[in-house]
Amino acid sequence: MRLDIISIFPEYFSPLDVSLIGKARERGTLDVRIHQLRDWAHDVHKTVDDTPYGGGPGMVMKPEVWGAAVDAVVGSADQVPRMVVPTPSGRPFTQELAQELAREPWLLFCCGRYEGIDSRVMAEYSTRLRVDEVSIGDYVLAGGEVAVLVMAEAVGRLLPGVLGNACSVADDSFAPGSMRNLLEGPVFTKPPEWRGHKVPEVLLSGHHGKIARWRRDEALRRTVANRPDLAAALDPETLDKHDRAL
Ligand code: ADE
Repeated sequence: MRLDIISIFPEYFSPLDVSLIGKARERGTLDVRIHQLRDWAHDVHKTVDDTPYGGGPGMVMKPEVWGAAVDAVVGSADQVPRMVVPTPSGRPFTQELAQELAREPWLLFCCGRYEGIDSRVMAEYSTRLRVDEVSIGDYVLAGGEVAVLVMAEAVGRLLPGVLGNACSVADDSFAPGSMRNLLEGPVFTKPPEWRGHKVPEVLLSGHHGKIARWRRDEALRRTVANRPDLAAALDPETLDKHDRAL
């Protein structure tokens, strides 16, 4: 997958040099290209923003600079990227969207700062590319850079060969399958007792059926406690008698 990022703070993206994503880049599974937006600002101050029409606080990023940057990155390749613009007013970033993005050959992330990017930039590229404005949660960050790190990691780990064990993707909270919409339950490793806290007996039993049952119960319990919204939305058809008794 090719992943382009345009930002006025390219230094935000050094975490993409390490760990899973760093290794995927070394192996060539992921081709990350980071661009400085100011390279396409042509005045002496390399200005990328201006005051908003209609008044109000803050500054808005200029369409001409973004247009020049995106044109240059998209170029005249026969393929076009899917464009993702992080913004608190976008559609929610979910595991489902991460999976959808992981199937794309080319993603272009455009990081806004200040009050955001002039809306005509998204309107213009929507005529040529798939453009999604995406929010990683109901809070406001100082800019899109951290949101792109979140999305790049969530997407990158889904690429074939990036995770050592493909099963860990299937077990994720929010992954499709029998545990769909349930949070992952607690996990344990050796030793069997630490500071008086014991690993639940069932996990030491070697009884796969009982372990699966226990994991599902714990997942459901955690979902009810931490995400009542998800618990309420569970399809009763997917709950068995034992679940309902919890
Ligand atoms: N930029 C600022 N806040 C954001 C958020 N919550 N999600 C995505 N991009 C953002």
